Amino acid sequence: MDRPDRYTRTAIALHWLVAALVLAQLAWGVWMQTIPKQPVGPRVDAFNLHKSLGMLILGLVMVRLGWRLTHRPPPLPPMPRWQALGARASHAILYLALIAQPIIGFLGSAASGYPVRLFGTTLPPLMARHDALKAELSGAHAAVATVLVATIAVHVAAAMRHALARDGVIERMWPRRAGAAARAQVPPREASRANVAS
Ligand code: HEM
Ligand code: HEM
Repeated sequence: MDRPDRYTRTAIALHWLVAALVLAQLAWGVWMQTIPKQPVGPRVDAFNLHKSLGMLILGLVMVRLGWRLTHRPPPLPPMPRWQALGARASHAILYLALIAQPIIGFLGSAASGYPVRLFGTTLPPLMARHDALKAELSGAHAAVATVLVATIAVHVAAAMRHALARDGVIERMWPRRAGAAARAQVPPREASRANVAS
Protein backbone atom coordinates (compact mmCIF):
# COMPACT_ATOMS: atom_id res chain seq x y z
CA MET A 1 0.00 0.00 0.00
CA ASP A 2 1.24 3.54 -0.71
CA ARG A 3 2.07 5.65 2.33
CA PRO A 4 1.21 9.34 2.49
CA ASP A 5 4.83 10.31 3.32
CA ARG A 6 6.01 9.13 -0.11
CA TYR A 7 5.03 9.60 -3.72
CA THR A 8 2.76 6.81 -4.97
CA ARG A 9 4.18 3.93 -7.03
CA THR A 10 2.56 5.44 -10.14
CA ALA A 11 4.30 8.78 -9.56
CA ILE A 12 7.64 7.09 -8.86
CA ALA A 13 7.44 4.90 -11.98
CA LEU A 14 6.49 7.89 -14.15
CA HIS A 15 9.24 10.08 -12.61
CA TRP A 16 12.03 7.63 -13.44
CA LEU A 17 10.67 6.66 -16.84
CA VAL A 18 10.34 10.31 -17.92
CA ALA A 19 13.72 11.23 -16.35
CA ALA A 20 15.52 8.46 -18.31
CA LEU A 21 13.73 9.32 -21.57
CA VAL A 22 14.41 13.07 -21.24
CA LEU A 23 18.12 12.61 -20.50
CA ALA A 24 18.43 10.28 -23.51
CA GLN A 25 16.38 12.67 -25.67
CA LEU A 26 18.59 15.66 -24.81
CA ALA A 27 21.78 13.78 -25.71
CA TRP A 28 20.20 12.26 -28.84
CA GLY A 29 18.93 15.68 -30.02
CA VAL A 30 22.46 17.10 -29.95
CA TRP A 31 24.12 13.97 -31.37
CA MET A 32 21.70 13.41 -34.28
CA GLN A 33 22.75 16.74 -35.80
CA THR A 34 26.33 15.50 -36.18
CA ILE A 35 25.15 12.74 -38.58
CA PRO A 36 26.18 13.66 -42.17
CA LYS A 37 23.35 14.81 -44.47
CA GLN A 38 24.43 12.30 -47.15
CA PRO A 39 23.37 9.55 -47.47
CA VAL A 40 20.02 10.83 -46.13
CA GLY A 41 18.81 7.57 -44.49
CA PRO A 42 20.62 7.45 -41.11
CA ARG A 43 20.06 11.15 -40.35
CA VAL A 44 16.35 11.00 -41.23
CA ASP A 45 15.90 7.83 -39.13
CA ALA A 46 17.64 9.47 -36.15
CA PHE A 47 15.49 12.63 -36.48
CA ASN A 48 12.29 10.54 -36.75
CA LEU A 49 13.21 8.59 -33.60
CA HIS A 50 13.82 11.90 -31.78
CA LYS A 51 10.42 13.20 -32.92
CA SER A 52 8.60 9.99 -31.91
CA LEU A 53 10.29 9.83 -28.49
CA GLY A 54 9.57 13.53 -27.97
CA MET A 55 5.85 13.01 -28.57
CA LEU A 56 5.89 9.95 -26.29
CA ILE A 57 7.48 12.10 -23.57
CA LEU A 58 4.72 14.70 -24.05
CA GLY A 59 2.08 11.97 -23.56
CA LEU A 60 3.79 10.64 -20.42
CA VAL A 61 4.22 14.14 -18.96
CA MET A 62 0.51 14.85 -19.52
CA VAL A 63 -0.35 11.62 -17.65
CA ARG A 64 2.08 12.69 -14.92
CA LEU A 65 0.57 16.13 -14.68
CA GLY A 66 -2.91 14.57 -14.53
CA TRP A 67 -1.72 12.43 -11.61
CA ARG A 68 -0.12 15.46 -9.95
CA LEU A 69 -3.28 17.60 -10.20
CA THR A 70 -5.44 14.86 -8.68
CA HIS A 71 -3.04 13.78 -5.88
CA ARG A 72 -1.48 15.94 -3.21
CA PRO A 73 2.28 15.33 -3.07
CA PRO A 74 3.62 14.22 0.33
CA PRO A 75 4.46 17.18 2.58
CA LEU A 76 8.15 18.20 2.49
CA PRO A 77 10.22 17.44 5.59
CA PRO A 78 11.21 20.54 7.64
CA MET A 79 13.59 22.74 5.58
CA PRO A 80 14.32 26.46 5.12
CA ARG A 81 11.55 28.34 3.30
CA TRP A 82 13.82 29.23 0.37
CA GLN A 83 14.54 25.56 -0.23
CA ALA A 84 10.85 24.61 -0.25
CA LEU A 85 10.11 27.52 -2.63
CA GLY A 86 13.07 26.51 -4.82
CA ALA A 87 11.81 22.92 -5.01
CA ARG A 88 8.32 24.06 -6.00
CA ALA A 89 9.62 26.57 -8.58
CA SER A 90 12.06 24.12 -10.17
CA HIS A 91 9.41 21.39 -10.42
CA ALA A 92 7.03 23.87 -12.08
CA ILE A 93 9.76 24.91 -14.57
CA LEU A 94 10.44 21.24 -15.35
CA TYR A 95 6.76 20.52 -16.05
CA LEU A 96 6.38 23.67 -18.20
CA ALA A 97 9.56 23.01 -20.19
CA LEU A 98 8.65 19.34 -20.71
CA ILE A 99 5.30 20.37 -22.20
CA ALA A 100 6.60 23.34 -24.24
CA GLN A 101 9.62 21.52 -25.72
CA PRO A 102 7.81 18.76 -27.67
CA ILE A 103 5.13 21.20 -28.87
CA ILE A 104 7.80 23.65 -30.14
CA GLY A 105 9.71 20.72 -31.73
CA PHE A 106 6.54 19.48 -33.41
CA LEU A 107 5.58 22.92 -34.78
CA GLY A 108 9.18 23.49 -35.97
CA SER A 109 9.14 20.16 -37.79
CA ALA A 110 5.78 21.01 -39.36
CA ALA A 111 7.19 24.36 -40.60
CA SER A 112 10.30 22.68 -42.06
CA GLY A 113 8.42 21.21 -45.01
CA TYR A 114 9.53 17.66 -44.13
CA PRO A 115 6.64 15.33 -43.19
CA VAL A 116 6.53 14.48 -39.48
CA ARG A 117 6.71 10.72 -38.93
CA LEU A 118 5.70 9.37 -35.54
CA PHE A 119 6.58 5.72 -34.88
CA GLY A 120 6.34 4.99 -38.62
CA THR A 121 3.10 6.90 -39.31
CA THR A 122 3.38 9.99 -41.51
CA LEU A 123 1.20 12.79 -40.17
CA PRO A 124 -0.71 15.06 -42.57
CA PRO A 125 1.11 18.40 -43.13
CA LEU A 126 0.01 20.98 -40.56
CA MET A 127 1.23 24.01 -42.55
CA ALA A 128 3.13 24.97 -45.68
CA ARG A 129 6.93 25.24 -45.46
CA HIS A 130 7.84 28.44 -43.62
CA ASP A 131 11.59 29.02 -43.29
CA ALA A 132 11.47 32.12 -41.04
CA LEU A 133 9.04 30.44 -38.60
CA LYS A 134 11.15 27.26 -38.64
CA ALA A 135 14.28 29.29 -37.73
CA GLU A 136 12.43 30.97 -34.81
CA LEU A 137 11.12 27.65 -33.52
CA SER A 138 14.56 26.00 -33.84
CA GLY A 139 16.00 28.83 -31.72
CA ALA A 140 13.22 28.36 -29.16
CA HIS A 141 13.77 24.55 -29.13
CA ALA A 142 17.49 25.03 -28.41
CA ALA A 143 16.73 27.68 -25.74
CA VAL A 144 14.19 25.47 -23.91
CA ALA A 145 16.71 22.59 -24.10
CA THR A 146 19.22 24.85 -22.29
CA VAL A 147 16.63 25.75 -19.62
CA LEU A 148 15.89 22.03 -19.20
CA VAL A 149 19.56 21.08 -18.82
CA ALA A 150 20.17 23.89 -16.29
CA THR A 151 17.05 23.07 -14.24
CA ILE A 152 17.79 19.33 -14.27
CA ALA A 153 21.37 20.07 -13.11
CA VAL A 154 20.04 22.11 -10.14
CA HIS A 155 17.38 19.43 -9.46
CA VAL A 156 19.91 16.57 -9.42
CA ALA A 157 22.39 18.59 -7.32
CA ALA A 158 19.60 19.30 -4.79
CA ALA A 159 18.63 15.60 -4.80
CA MET A 160 22.27 14.62 -4.12
CA ARG A 161 22.50 17.15 -1.28
CA HIS A 162 19.34 15.67 0.30
CA ALA A 163 20.81 12.17 -0.16
CA LEU A 164 23.99 13.21 1.69
CA ALA A 165 21.92 14.87 4.44
CA ARG A 166 19.86 11.63 4.75
CA ASP A 167 16.75 13.71 5.39
CA GLY A 168 14.35 11.30 3.69
CA VAL A 169 13.68 13.37 0.54
CA ILE A 170 15.29 10.84 -1.85
CA GLU A 171 13.32 7.98 -0.26
CA ARG A 172 10.07 9.76 -1.21
CA MET A 173 10.87 9.23 -4.90
CA TRP A 174 12.76 5.91 -4.62
CA PRO A 175 11.09 2.55 -5.38
CA ARG A 176 10.88 0.61 -2.13
CA ARG A 177 11.62 -3.12 -1.96
CA ALA A 178 8.60 -5.30 -1.06
CA GLY A 179 10.22 -6.47 2.22
CA ALA A 180 11.07 -2.94 3.31
CA ALA A 181 7.54 -1.79 2.47
CA ALA A 182 6.01 -4.60 4.54
CA ARG A 183 8.30 -3.84 7.51
CA ALA A 184 7.44 -0.15 7.32
CA GLN A 185 3.75 -0.97 7.73
CA VAL A 186 4.22 -2.91 10.98
CA PRO A 187 3.98 -0.53 13.99
CA PRO A 188 7.41 -0.36 15.73
CA ARG A 189 6.26 -2.08 18.97
CA GLU A 190 4.78 -5.05 17.11
CA ALA A 191 7.87 -5.25 14.94
CA SER A 192 10.17 -5.58 18.00
CA ARG A 193 7.85 -8.25 19.53
CA ALA A 194 7.99 -10.15 16.25
CA ASN A 195 11.80 -10.00 16.38
CA VAL A 196 11.89 -11.41 19.93
CA ALA A 197 9.52 -14.24 18.97
CA SER A 198 11.52 -15.26 15.92
C1 HEM B 1 19.48 11.43 -11.00
C2 HEM B 1 18.40 12.08 -11.38
C3 HEM B 1 17.24 12.48 -10.49
C4 HEM B 1 17.03 12.36 -9.14
C5 HEM B 1 17.97 11.75 -8.11
C6 HEM B 1 15.72 12.91 -8.85
C7 HEM B 1 15.13 12.95 -7.61
C8 HEM B 1 13.90 13.48 -7.32
C9 HEM B 1 13.28 13.51 -6.02
C10 HEM B 1 13.90 12.93 -4.75
C11 HEM B 1 12.07 14.12 -6.14
C12 HEM B 1 11.05 14.36 -5.02
C13 HEM B 1 11.24 15.71 -4.45
C14 HEM B 1 10.24 15.90 -3.33
O1 HEM B 1 10.20 15.06 -2.45
O2 HEM B 1 9.48 16.87 -3.37
C15 HEM B 1 11.91 14.50 -7.52
C16 HEM B 1 10.82 15.17 -8.02
C17 HEM B 1 10.69 15.57 -9.34
N1 HEM B 1 11.57 15.30 -10.35
FE1 HEM B 1 13.36 14.32 -10.21
N2 HEM B 1 15.17 13.37 -10.02
C18 HEM B 1 16.07 13.13 -11.04
C19 HEM B 1 15.91 13.43 -12.36
C20 HEM B 1 14.84 14.12 -12.88
C21 HEM B 1 14.71 14.53 -14.27
C22 HEM B 1 15.73 14.22 -15.37
C23 HEM B 1 13.52 15.19 -14.37
C24 HEM B 1 12.89 15.83 -15.55
C25 HEM B 1 13.03 15.43 -16.74
C26 HEM B 1 12.90 15.22 -13.06
C27 HEM B 1 11.69 15.81 -12.76
C28 HEM B 1 11.10 15.87 -11.51
C29 HEM B 1 9.84 16.55 -11.22
C30 HEM B 1 8.96 17.32 -12.23
C31 HEM B 1 9.59 16.36 -9.86
C32 HEM B 1 8.40 16.89 -9.06
C33 HEM B 1 7.46 15.76 -8.77
C34 HEM B 1 6.09 16.27 -8.35
O3 HEM B 1 5.93 16.74 -7.22
O4 HEM B 1 5.19 16.18 -9.18
N3 HEM B 1 13.73 14.56 -12.18
N4 HEM B 1 13.03 14.11 -8.23
C1 HEM C 1 10.98 16.63 -24.31
C2 HEM C 1 11.14 16.46 -25.61
C3 HEM C 1 12.31 16.96 -26.41
C4 HEM C 1 13.57 17.30 -25.99
C5 HEM C 1 14.16 17.26 -24.58
C6 HEM C 1 14.30 17.71 -27.19
C7 HEM C 1 15.62 18.12 -27.18
C8 HEM C 1 16.32 18.50 -28.31
C9 HEM C 1 17.68 18.97 -28.31
C10 HEM C 1 18.59 19.08 -27.09
C11 HEM C 1 18.00 19.26 -29.59
C12 HEM C 1 19.34 19.83 -30.08
C13 HEM C 1 19.21 21.34 -30.11
C14 HEM C 1 20.39 22.02 -30.73
O1 HEM C 1 21.47 21.43 -30.83
O2 HEM C 1 20.21 23.19 -31.15
C15 HEM C 1 16.86 18.99 -30.42
C16 HEM C 1 16.80 19.18 -31.78
C17 HEM C 1 15.71 18.93 -32.58
N1 HEM C 1 14.48 18.47 -32.12
FE1 HEM C 1 13.97 18.05 -30.22
N2 HEM C 1 13.47 17.61 -28.27
C18 HEM C 1 12.25 17.15 -27.84
C19 HEM C 1 11.13 16.92 -28.62
C20 HEM C 1 11.06 17.07 -30.01
C21 HEM C 1 9.90 16.81 -30.82
C22 HEM C 1 8.57 16.27 -30.30
C23 HEM C 1 10.24 17.12 -32.11
C24 HEM C 1 9.41 17.03 -33.36
C25 HEM C 1 8.25 16.40 -33.49
C26 HEM C 1 11.62 17.57 -32.10
C27 HEM C 1 12.33 17.95 -33.22
C28 HEM C 1 13.64 18.35 -33.22
C29 HEM C 1 14.38 18.74 -34.45
C30 HEM C 1 13.84 18.73 -35.87
C31 HEM C 1 15.68 19.09 -34.02
C32 HEM C 1 16.85 19.55 -34.89
C33 HEM C 1 17.12 21.00 -34.75
C34 HEM C 1 16.02 21.81 -35.35
O3 HEM C 1 15.71 21.60 -36.53
O4 HEM C 1 15.42 22.61 -34.61
N3 HEM C 1 12.10 17.54 -30.79
N4 HEM C 1 15.84 18.53 -29.61
